[in-house]
Amino acid sequence: MIIKNRRVFLKVAVAGFVAFFLFIWNKLTLRHIETSGAEEALVPLNKNKEVQFFDKYIIVNADNKTTVFSSNCSHLGCKIDKMANGKLVCPCHGSEYDLQGQVIKGPAYKNLTVVNSTISEDGKSIIVKG
Ligand code: FES
Repeated sequence: MIIKNRRVFLKVAVAGFVAFFLFIWNKLTLRHIETSGAEEALVPLNKNKEVQFFDKYIIVNADNKTTVFSSNCSHLGCKIDKMANGKLVCPCHGSEYDLQGQVIKGPAYKNLTVVNSTISEDGKSIIVKG
């Protein structure tokens, strides 16, 4: 009985630790700013990485420009959070996009949504609007 309770305790403790870690990670990597009803986010920019995945955004540094895409797949909205063979791949039904956000394999038929953004004055962050 004690062993079973200890296992339950450890599972709850590990789950709590993971939830706390994810909460802190989100706070450290994506700072939200509320400005007159329009939501903005300050996202860290690393120009040395071709692609950076965040909760709501994908930042792509390609062809000497930085583009911010919504991380929602244009098919049914799953979060795109990985690359394979130089393509952005949706984990749900396998749609693939190039680094310009254009569909190269369905079932999605619309391109990724480009999110309005500007680079901060110090060049270390992107201010994402929307
Ligand atoms: S939601 Fe992405 S392919 Fe279906």
